[in-house]
Amino acid sequence: MRFVSANLLALFLLCTCSCVLYVWSRLEDRLGRQKRGFHGAGALFAYSKSADLSARTFRALLTVPAAQKSHHYNRIDSHNSSNTKEKPANIVKRNYHTHVTKMTSNKRDALRFSEIIEDGIFWSQRLDDHLPVGFSEEHARTWRQRARGNLVVSLESGCGRVSNQLATFSDGSKACVRYGINADQIQGETLSYYLANLLGITNIPPIILSRLDVDGEQWGSVRQRVDGLQWSAGAIVSLTEWVANLTGVVTPAPLRQESRGLHPLLPELENKTIAGLLELVQWTDLIIFDYLTANFDRLVSNLFSLQWDARVMERDTSNLLRTPSGDLVFIDNEAGLVHGYRVLDMWERYHSTVLSSVCLFRKATAQHIIDLHRSRDTRMRLLELYRDREPLATELGFLSDEHARTLQNRIDRLYKHILNCKDKYSQL
Ligand SMILES: Nc1ncnc2c1ncn2[C@@H]1O[C@H](COP(=O)(O)OP(=O)(O)O)[C@@H](O)[C@H]1O
Ligand SMILES: [Mg+2]
Repeated sequence: MRFVSANLLALFLLCTCSCVLYVWSRLEDRLGRQKRGFHGAGALFAYSKSADLSARTFRALLTVPAAQKSHHYNRIDSHNSSNTKEKPANIVKRNYHTHVTKMTSNKRDALRFSEIIEDGIFWSQRLDDHLPVGFSEEHARTWRQRARGNLVVSLESGCGRVSNQLATFSDGSKACVRYGINADQIQGETLSYYLANLLGITNIPPIILSRLDVDGEQWGSVRQRVDGLQWSAGAIVSLTEWVANLTGVVTPAPLRQESRGLHPLLPELENKTIAGLLELVQWTDLIIFDYLTANFDRLVSNLFSLQWDARVMERDTSNLLRTPSGDLVFIDNEAGLVHGYRVLDMWERYHSTVLSSVCLFRKATAQHIIDLHRSRDTRMRLLELYRDREPLATELGFLSDEHARTLQNRIDRLYKHILNCKDKYSQL
Protein backbone atom coordinates (compact mmCIF):
# COMPACT_ATOMS: atom_id res chain seq x y z
CA MET A 1 0.00 0.00 0.00
CA ARG A 2 2.80 2.36 1.00
CA PHE A 3 4.59 1.36 -2.20
CA VAL A 4 1.53 2.29 -4.31
CA SER A 5 1.16 5.68 -2.57
CA ALA A 6 4.84 6.49 -3.12
CA ASN A 7 4.49 5.65 -6.81
CA LEU A 8 1.35 7.82 -7.17
CA LEU A 9 3.10 10.75 -5.48
CA ALA A 10 6.10 10.34 -7.82
CA LEU A 11 3.75 10.27 -10.83
CA PHE A 12 1.93 13.43 -9.61
CA LEU A 13 5.23 15.29 -9.19
CA LEU A 14 6.36 14.20 -12.63
CA CYS A 15 3.09 15.51 -14.21
CA THR A 16 3.35 18.85 -12.37
CA CYS A 17 6.96 19.31 -13.55
CA SER A 18 6.11 18.52 -17.16
CA CYS A 19 3.12 20.94 -17.04
CA VAL A 20 5.32 23.76 -15.69
CA LEU A 21 7.92 23.00 -18.36
CA TYR A 22 5.30 23.02 -21.12
CA VAL A 23 3.79 26.35 -20.00
CA TRP A 24 7.26 27.88 -19.67
CA SER A 25 8.33 26.72 -23.11
CA ARG A 26 5.13 28.17 -24.70
CA LEU A 27 5.67 31.43 -22.89
CA GLU A 28 9.27 31.62 -24.01
CA ASP A 29 8.21 30.77 -27.52
CA ARG A 30 5.69 33.64 -27.60
CA LEU A 31 8.06 36.13 -25.99
CA GLY A 32 10.75 35.13 -28.47
CA ARG A 33 8.45 35.64 -31.43
CA GLN A 34 7.48 39.05 -30.13
CA LYS A 35 11.11 40.04 -29.80
CA ARG A 36 11.93 38.85 -33.29
CA GLY A 37 8.97 40.85 -34.50
CA PHE A 38 10.58 44.09 -33.31
CA HIS A 39 14.11 43.32 -34.37
CA GLY A 40 14.15 40.72 -37.11
CA ALA A 41 13.99 41.94 -40.72
CA GLY A 42 11.48 39.40 -42.10
CA ALA A 43 9.09 39.85 -39.23
CA LEU A 44 9.45 43.64 -39.36
CA PHE A 45 7.93 43.54 -42.82
CA ALA A 46 5.06 41.39 -41.57
CA TYR A 47 4.44 43.71 -38.63
CA SER A 48 4.73 46.98 -40.41
CA LYS A 49 2.65 45.70 -43.27
CA SER A 50 -0.30 44.93 -41.05
CA ALA A 51 0.08 48.17 -39.08
CA ASP A 52 0.40 50.19 -42.25
CA LEU A 53 -2.58 48.47 -43.76
CA SER A 54 -4.90 49.50 -40.96
CA ALA A 55 -3.51 53.02 -40.96
CA ARG A 56 -3.86 53.20 -44.69
CA THR A 57 -7.44 52.01 -44.56
CA PHE A 58 -8.21 54.71 -42.01
CA ARG A 59 -6.42 57.40 -43.98
CA ALA A 60 -8.06 56.21 -47.14
CA LEU A 61 -11.39 57.09 -45.62
CA LEU A 62 -10.27 60.48 -44.48
CA THR A 63 -7.61 61.89 -46.72
CA VAL A 64 -7.47 60.29 -50.11
CA PRO A 65 -10.35 62.36 -51.55
CA ALA A 66 -8.71 65.50 -50.16
CA ALA A 67 -5.42 64.58 -51.80
CA GLN A 68 -7.18 64.00 -55.09
CA LYS A 69 -8.95 67.33 -54.73
CA SER A 70 -5.82 69.32 -54.07
CA HIS A 71 -4.18 67.73 -57.09
CA HIS A 72 -7.09 68.93 -59.16
CA TYR A 73 -7.06 72.43 -57.71
CA ASN A 74 -3.36 72.73 -58.45
CA ARG A 75 -4.14 71.81 -61.99
CA ILE A 76 -6.72 74.59 -62.20
CA ASP A 77 -4.43 77.20 -60.74
CA SER A 78 -0.89 76.51 -61.78
CA HIS A 79 0.24 79.64 -59.91
CA ASN A 80 -0.61 78.06 -56.57
CA SER A 81 2.36 76.64 -54.73
CA SER A 82 1.96 73.04 -53.62
CA ASN A 83 1.53 73.91 -49.96
CA THR A 84 0.28 70.60 -48.68
CA LYS A 85 -0.89 72.08 -45.38
CA GLU A 86 -3.46 74.22 -47.12
CA LYS A 87 -7.01 72.94 -47.12
CA PRO A 88 -8.64 72.48 -50.54
CA ALA A 89 -11.24 75.18 -49.84
CA ASN A 90 -8.46 77.71 -49.26
CA ILE A 91 -6.81 76.74 -52.47
CA VAL A 92 -10.05 77.31 -54.31
CA LYS A 93 -10.48 80.66 -52.65
CA ARG A 94 -7.00 81.77 -53.57
CA ASN A 95 -7.45 80.62 -57.11
CA TYR A 96 -10.67 82.63 -57.35
CA HIS A 97 -9.11 85.58 -55.58
CA THR A 98 -6.10 85.59 -57.92
CA HIS A 99 -8.39 85.63 -60.90
CA VAL A 100 -10.35 88.60 -59.58
CA THR A 101 -7.24 90.51 -58.59
CA LYS A 102 -5.85 90.11 -62.06
CA MET A 103 -9.11 91.24 -63.53
CA THR A 104 -9.19 94.58 -61.71
CA SER A 105 -5.66 95.02 -60.51
CA ASN A 106 -6.11 98.81 -60.59
CA LYS A 107 -8.59 98.65 -57.70
CA ARG A 108 -7.44 99.15 -54.10
CA ASP A 109 -6.83 95.96 -52.19
CA ALA A 110 -8.57 94.57 -49.11
CA LEU A 111 -11.04 96.46 -46.90
CA ARG A 112 -11.34 96.19 -43.11
CA PHE A 113 -14.27 94.24 -41.67
CA SER A 114 -16.08 97.42 -40.55
CA GLU A 115 -15.81 98.74 -44.09
CA ILE A 116 -17.37 95.59 -45.54
CA ILE A 117 -20.42 95.01 -43.36
CA GLU A 118 -22.99 97.36 -41.92
CA ASP A 119 -25.85 96.85 -39.47
CA GLY A 120 -25.01 93.20 -38.89
CA ILE A 121 -26.08 91.57 -42.13
CA PHE A 122 -25.70 94.13 -44.91
CA TRP A 123 -22.94 94.85 -47.37
CA SER A 124 -21.64 98.33 -46.59
CA GLN A 125 -22.71 101.45 -48.44
CA ARG A 126 -19.10 101.87 -49.42
CA LEU A 127 -19.10 98.54 -51.24
CA ASP A 128 -22.48 99.26 -52.77
CA ASP A 129 -21.12 102.52 -54.17
CA HIS A 130 -18.45 100.54 -56.02
CA LEU A 131 -20.98 98.10 -57.46
CA PRO A 132 -21.18 98.05 -61.27
CA VAL A 133 -24.29 99.84 -62.55
CA GLY A 134 -25.19 96.86 -64.72
CA PHE A 135 -28.00 97.36 -67.22
CA SER A 136 -29.51 100.61 -65.95
CA GLU A 137 -33.12 101.56 -66.67
CA GLU A 138 -31.94 104.32 -68.97
CA HIS A 139 -29.77 101.89 -70.93
CA ALA A 140 -32.66 99.41 -71.10
CA ARG A 141 -35.10 102.03 -72.39
CA THR A 142 -32.74 103.08 -75.17
CA TRP A 143 -32.03 99.46 -76.09
CA ARG A 144 -35.73 98.57 -76.22
CA GLN A 145 -36.44 101.46 -78.56
CA ARG A 146 -33.58 100.50 -80.84
CA ALA A 147 -34.45 96.81 -80.87
CA ARG A 148 -38.09 97.54 -81.70
CA GLY A 149 -37.18 99.99 -84.44
CA ASN A 150 -34.46 97.99 -86.22
CA LEU A 151 -34.85 95.26 -88.80
CA VAL A 152 -33.47 91.79 -88.17
CA VAL A 153 -31.01 91.16 -91.01
CA SER A 154 -29.66 87.76 -90.03
CA LEU A 155 -30.27 84.84 -87.69
CA GLU A 156 -27.48 82.43 -86.89
CA SER A 157 -26.21 80.15 -84.12
CA GLY A 158 -24.33 81.76 -81.21
CA CYS A 159 -26.83 81.87 -78.36
CA GLY A 160 -26.88 78.25 -77.19
CA ARG A 161 -29.28 75.61 -78.45
CA VAL A 162 -30.90 75.82 -81.84
CA SER A 163 -34.14 77.31 -80.49
CA ASN A 164 -32.06 80.37 -79.57
CA GLN A 165 -30.65 82.38 -82.43
CA LEU A 166 -28.19 85.23 -82.58
CA ALA A 167 -29.96 88.04 -84.41
CA THR A 168 -28.14 90.92 -86.06
CA PHE A 169 -30.05 94.17 -86.49
CA SER A 170 -29.71 96.59 -89.36
CA ASP A 171 -27.61 98.92 -87.16
CA GLY A 172 -25.11 96.10 -86.51
CA SER A 173 -26.14 95.45 -82.89
CA LYS A 174 -27.10 91.93 -81.81
CA ALA A 175 -29.64 90.13 -79.66
CA CYS A 176 -30.34 86.56 -78.59
CA VAL A 177 -33.75 85.48 -79.84
CA ARG A 178 -35.53 82.78 -77.83
CA TYR A 179 -38.26 80.72 -79.35
CA GLY A 180 -40.25 78.80 -76.75
CA ILE A 181 -41.87 75.44 -77.31
CA ASN A 182 -44.68 76.85 -75.16
CA ALA A 183 -45.50 80.19 -73.58
CA ASP A 184 -44.01 79.15 -70.18
CA GLN A 185 -40.44 79.66 -71.28
CA ILE A 186 -40.87 83.10 -72.81
CA GLN A 187 -43.06 84.17 -69.89
CA GLY A 188 -40.46 82.89 -67.42
CA GLU A 189 -37.68 84.74 -69.21
CA THR A 190 -39.61 88.00 -69.51
CA LEU A 191 -41.30 88.09 -66.10
CA SER A 192 -38.04 87.16 -64.36
CA TYR A 193 -36.46 90.18 -66.01
CA TYR A 194 -39.22 92.48 -64.77
CA LEU A 195 -39.09 91.00 -61.28
CA ALA A 196 -35.36 91.79 -61.23
CA ASN A 197 -36.31 95.36 -62.21
CA LEU A 198 -38.75 95.51 -59.32
CA LEU A 199 -36.00 94.43 -56.93
CA GLY A 200 -33.46 96.89 -58.34
CA ILE A 201 -31.27 94.02 -59.61
CA THR A 202 -29.56 95.20 -62.79
CA ASN A 203 -27.66 92.07 -63.84
CA ILE A 204 -30.04 90.96 -66.60
CA PRO A 205 -29.70 92.33 -70.12
CA PRO A 206 -32.80 94.17 -71.37
CA ILE A 207 -35.46 92.19 -73.18
CA ILE A 208 -38.31 92.84 -75.60
CA LEU A 209 -41.05 90.62 -76.98
CA SER A 210 -41.65 90.45 -80.70
CA ARG A 211 -44.19 88.75 -82.90
CA LEU A 212 -42.59 86.65 -85.63
CA ASP A 213 -44.36 88.40 -88.47
CA VAL A 214 -42.43 87.19 -91.50
CA ASP A 215 -44.58 89.29 -93.85
CA GLY A 216 -43.73 92.42 -91.88
CA GLU A 217 -40.72 94.70 -92.16
CA GLN A 218 -38.81 93.63 -89.04
CA TRP A 219 -38.59 89.87 -89.79
CA GLY A 220 -39.10 89.93 -93.56
CA SER A 221 -35.39 89.59 -94.45
CA VAL A 222 -34.98 86.41 -92.39
CA ARG A 223 -38.17 84.73 -93.54
CA GLN A 224 -36.35 81.76 -95.07
CA ARG A 225 -34.29 81.19 -92.00
CA VAL A 226 -37.40 81.32 -89.78
CA ASP A 227 -39.05 78.74 -92.04
CA GLY A 228 -35.91 76.58 -91.91
CA LEU A 229 -35.92 76.66 -88.12
CA GLN A 230 -39.56 75.57 -88.22
CA TRP A 231 -40.56 78.46 -86.02
CA SER A 232 -44.29 79.11 -86.27
CA ALA A 233 -45.03 82.38 -88.00
CA GLY A 234 -46.89 84.66 -85.61
CA ALA A 235 -45.31 83.18 -82.46
CA ILE A 236 -44.11 85.56 -79.77
CA VAL A 237 -40.36 85.39 -79.20
CA SER A 238 -38.10 87.25 -76.79
CA LEU A 239 -35.01 89.22 -77.78
CA THR A 240 -32.33 89.89 -75.19
CA GLU A 241 -29.44 92.28 -75.66
CA TRP A 242 -26.33 90.40 -76.75
CA VAL A 243 -23.26 91.31 -74.69
CA ALA A 244 -19.73 90.89 -76.05
CA ASN A 245 -16.75 89.24 -74.32
CA LEU A 246 -18.60 87.35 -71.60
CA THR A 247 -16.77 84.61 -69.73
CA GLY A 248 -17.78 81.81 -67.34
CA VAL A 249 -18.10 82.12 -63.57
CA VAL A 250 -17.22 79.48 -60.99
CA THR A 251 -19.23 79.43 -57.76
CA PRO A 252 -17.15 81.20 -55.09
CA ALA A 253 -15.77 79.16 -52.19
CA PRO A 254 -18.16 80.41 -49.46
CA LEU A 255 -21.13 79.18 -51.50
CA ARG A 256 -19.84 75.69 -52.12
CA GLN A 257 -21.05 72.59 -50.39
CA GLU A 258 -17.94 72.26 -48.21
CA SER A 259 -18.30 75.81 -46.90
CA ARG A 260 -20.38 77.13 -44.02
CA GLY A 261 -22.00 79.71 -46.27
CA LEU A 262 -21.76 83.41 -46.90
CA HIS A 263 -22.38 85.21 -43.61
CA PRO A 264 -21.03 88.25 -41.74
CA LEU A 265 -18.58 86.27 -39.58
CA LEU A 266 -16.71 84.77 -42.52
CA PRO A 267 -13.03 85.52 -41.85
CA GLU A 268 -12.07 85.29 -45.55
CA LEU A 269 -14.02 88.47 -46.28
CA GLU A 270 -11.18 90.61 -45.00
CA ASN A 271 -8.69 88.94 -47.35
CA LYS A 272 -10.69 89.67 -50.46
CA THR A 273 -10.00 92.43 -52.92
CA ILE A 274 -12.75 94.95 -53.56
CA ALA A 275 -13.40 93.22 -56.88
CA GLY A 276 -13.73 89.88 -55.08
CA LEU A 277 -16.16 91.39 -52.57
CA LEU A 278 -18.19 93.03 -55.31
CA GLU A 279 -18.60 89.69 -56.98
CA LEU A 280 -19.88 88.21 -53.72
CA VAL A 281 -22.30 91.13 -53.36
CA GLN A 282 -23.74 90.26 -56.77
CA TRP A 283 -23.94 86.59 -55.83
CA THR A 284 -26.11 87.46 -52.84
CA ASP A 285 -28.53 89.23 -55.18
CA LEU A 286 -28.44 86.23 -57.50
CA ILE A 287 -29.36 83.86 -54.68
CA ILE A 288 -32.30 86.02 -53.62
CA PHE A 289 -33.43 86.29 -57.22
CA ASP A 290 -33.17 82.57 -57.98
CA TYR A 291 -34.95 81.73 -54.74
CA LEU A 292 -37.88 84.03 -55.55
CA THR A 293 -38.20 82.81 -59.12
CA ALA A 294 -37.47 79.18 -58.11
CA ASN A 295 -34.98 79.05 -60.97
CA PHE A 296 -33.22 75.70 -60.59
CA ASP A 297 -31.15 76.12 -63.73
CA ARG A 298 -28.14 77.72 -62.05
CA LEU A 299 -26.70 77.02 -58.59
CA VAL A 300 -29.51 74.69 -57.53
CA SER A 301 -28.99 72.31 -60.45
CA ASN A 302 -25.30 72.18 -59.54
CA LEU A 303 -26.18 71.23 -55.99
CA PHE A 304 -28.45 68.50 -57.32
CA SER A 305 -25.75 67.21 -59.67
CA LEU A 306 -23.32 66.81 -56.77
CA GLN A 307 -24.93 63.42 -56.16
CA TRP A 308 -23.14 61.94 -59.13
CA ASP A 309 -20.64 64.62 -60.10
CA ALA A 310 -18.48 65.60 -57.12
CA ARG A 311 -16.63 68.23 -59.12
CA VAL A 312 -19.56 70.08 -60.59
CA MET A 313 -18.88 73.14 -58.40
CA GLU A 314 -15.38 73.46 -59.84
CA ARG A 315 -16.80 74.18 -63.26
CA ASP A 316 -18.57 77.28 -64.60
CA THR A 317 -22.05 77.86 -63.21
CA SER A 318 -24.79 77.44 -65.80
CA ASN A 319 -26.47 80.55 -67.09
CA LEU A 320 -24.13 82.93 -65.34
CA LEU A 321 -21.50 84.98 -67.15
CA ARG A 322 -19.18 87.85 -66.34
CA THR A 323 -18.23 90.98 -68.27
CA PRO A 324 -14.55 91.96 -68.46
CA SER A 325 -15.22 94.68 -65.85
CA GLY A 326 -16.63 92.19 -63.34
CA ASP A 327 -20.39 92.58 -63.70
CA LEU A 328 -22.22 89.29 -63.38
CA VAL A 329 -24.78 88.70 -66.12
CA PHE A 330 -27.72 86.43 -65.28
CA ILE A 331 -28.76 84.88 -68.60
CA ASP A 332 -31.35 82.26 -69.54
CA ASN A 333 -34.00 82.82 -66.90
CA GLU A 334 -36.67 80.86 -68.73
CA ALA A 335 -36.98 78.31 -65.90
CA GLY A 336 -37.98 81.06 -63.49
CA LEU A 337 -41.43 81.87 -62.09
CA VAL A 338 -43.54 79.66 -64.35
CA HIS A 339 -41.77 76.37 -65.03
CA GLY A 340 -39.81 76.66 -61.76
CA TYR A 341 -43.06 77.00 -59.82
CA ARG A 342 -44.60 74.02 -61.61
CA VAL A 343 -41.79 71.73 -60.50
CA LEU A 344 -41.30 73.20 -57.03
CA ASP A 345 -41.96 69.88 -55.29
CA MET A 346 -38.82 68.44 -56.79
CA TRP A 347 -36.52 71.39 -56.23
CA GLU A 348 -37.73 73.20 -53.12
CA ARG A 349 -35.35 71.60 -50.65
CA TYR A 350 -32.40 72.60 -52.83
CA HIS A 351 -33.72 76.16 -53.13
CA SER A 352 -34.04 76.35 -49.34
CA THR A 353 -30.54 74.96 -48.83
CA VAL A 354 -29.03 77.58 -51.13
CA LEU A 355 -30.99 80.40 -49.49
CA SER A 356 -30.08 79.28 -46.00
CA SER A 357 -26.39 79.44 -46.96
CA VAL A 358 -26.59 83.23 -47.30
CA CYS A 359 -26.95 85.73 -44.45
CA LEU A 360 -25.54 88.80 -46.16
CA PHE A 361 -27.60 91.10 -48.34
CA ARG A 362 -27.55 94.31 -50.28
CA LYS A 363 -29.47 96.84 -48.22
CA ALA A 364 -31.44 98.07 -51.22
CA THR A 365 -32.51 94.54 -52.23
CA ALA A 366 -33.51 93.67 -48.66
CA GLN A 367 -35.51 96.90 -48.49
CA HIS A 368 -37.44 95.92 -51.62
CA ILE A 369 -38.23 92.54 -50.04
CA ILE A 370 -39.41 94.23 -46.83
CA ASP A 371 -41.63 96.62 -48.84
CA LEU A 372 -43.13 93.82 -50.95
CA HIS A 373 -43.71 91.74 -47.83
CA ARG A 374 -45.53 94.60 -46.08
CA SER A 375 -47.57 95.82 -49.04
CA ARG A 376 -48.41 92.27 -50.17
CA ASP A 377 -48.89 93.54 -53.71
CA THR A 378 -46.02 91.89 -55.60
CA ARG A 379 -48.40 90.59 -58.27
CA MET A 380 -49.86 94.05 -58.91
CA ARG A 381 -46.52 95.82 -59.05
CA LEU A 382 -45.00 93.23 -61.36
CA LEU A 383 -47.99 93.33 -63.68
CA GLU A 384 -47.94 97.14 -63.84
CA LEU A 385 -44.26 97.25 -64.65
CA TYR A 386 -44.58 94.54 -67.31
CA ARG A 387 -47.58 96.18 -68.98
CA ASP A 388 -45.96 99.58 -68.84
CA ARG A 389 -42.74 98.48 -70.55
CA GLU A 390 -43.88 95.69 -72.85
CA PRO A 391 -46.53 96.35 -75.52
CA LEU A 392 -47.03 92.59 -76.10
CA ALA A 393 -47.61 91.89 -72.39
CA THR A 394 -51.31 91.18 -72.78
CA GLU A 395 -50.71 88.81 -75.68
CA LEU A 396 -48.05 86.75 -73.92
CA GLY A 397 -49.98 86.68 -70.66
CA PHE A 398 -49.02 86.88 -67.01
CA LEU A 399 -48.65 84.67 -63.94
CA SER A 400 -51.66 82.59 -62.94
CA ASP A 401 -53.27 83.50 -59.59
CA GLU A 402 -51.69 80.42 -58.05
CA HIS A 403 -48.21 81.35 -59.24
CA ALA A 404 -48.72 84.94 -58.12
CA ARG A 405 -49.52 83.60 -54.62
CA THR A 406 -46.42 81.42 -54.74
CA LEU A 407 -44.33 84.48 -55.54
CA GLN A 408 -45.80 86.45 -52.62
CA ASN A 409 -45.22 83.47 -50.29
CA ARG A 410 -41.61 83.33 -51.35
CA ILE A 411 -41.24 87.06 -50.68
CA ASP A 412 -42.65 86.43 -47.19
CA ARG A 413 -40.29 83.52 -46.55
CA LEU A 414 -37.35 85.53 -47.74
CA TYR A 415 -38.39 88.35 -45.41
CA LYS A 416 -38.41 85.90 -42.48
CA HIS A 417 -35.03 84.58 -43.51
CA ILE A 418 -33.61 88.12 -43.48
CA LEU A 419 -35.08 88.67 -39.99
CA ASN A 420 -33.56 85.39 -38.76
CA CYS A 421 -30.17 86.43 -40.08
CA LYS A 422 -30.55 89.77 -38.33
CA ASP A 423 -31.37 88.03 -35.04
CA LYS A 424 -28.40 85.77 -35.41
CA TYR A 425 -25.77 88.32 -36.44
CA SER A 426 -26.91 91.72 -35.19
CA GLN A 427 -24.77 91.37 -32.03
CA LEU A 428 -21.67 92.05 -34.11
N1 LIG B 1 -27.25 87.95 -73.90
C1 LIG B 1 -26.19 87.24 -74.30
N2 LIG B 1 -25.06 87.87 -74.65
C2 LIG B 1 -23.99 87.17 -75.06
N3 LIG B 1 -23.95 85.84 -75.16
C3 LIG B 1 -25.05 85.15 -74.81
C4 LIG B 1 -26.22 85.81 -74.37
N4 LIG B 1 -27.17 84.88 -74.11
C5 LIG B 1 -26.60 83.69 -74.37
N5 LIG B 1 -25.33 83.85 -74.79
C6 LIG B 1 -24.38 82.80 -75.19
O1 LIG B 1 -25.08 81.61 -75.46
C7 LIG B 1 -24.76 80.59 -74.50
C8 LIG B 1 -26.01 79.81 -74.14
O2 LIG B 1 -26.98 80.69 -73.65
P1 LIG B 1 -28.30 80.20 -72.93
O3 LIG B 1 -29.23 81.36 -72.95
O4 LIG B 1 -27.98 79.64 -71.60
O5 LIG B 1 -28.80 79.08 -73.90
P2 LIG B 1 -29.49 77.67 -73.64
O6 LIG B 1 -30.95 77.95 -73.71
O7 LIG B 1 -28.99 76.84 -74.77
O8 LIG B 1 -29.08 77.15 -72.29
C9 LIG B 1 -24.16 81.34 -73.34
O9 LIG B 1 -23.29 80.58 -72.58
C10 LIG B 1 -23.45 82.48 -74.04
O10 LIG B 1 -22.23 82.03 -74.59
MG1 LIG C 1 -28.73 77.99 -70.58
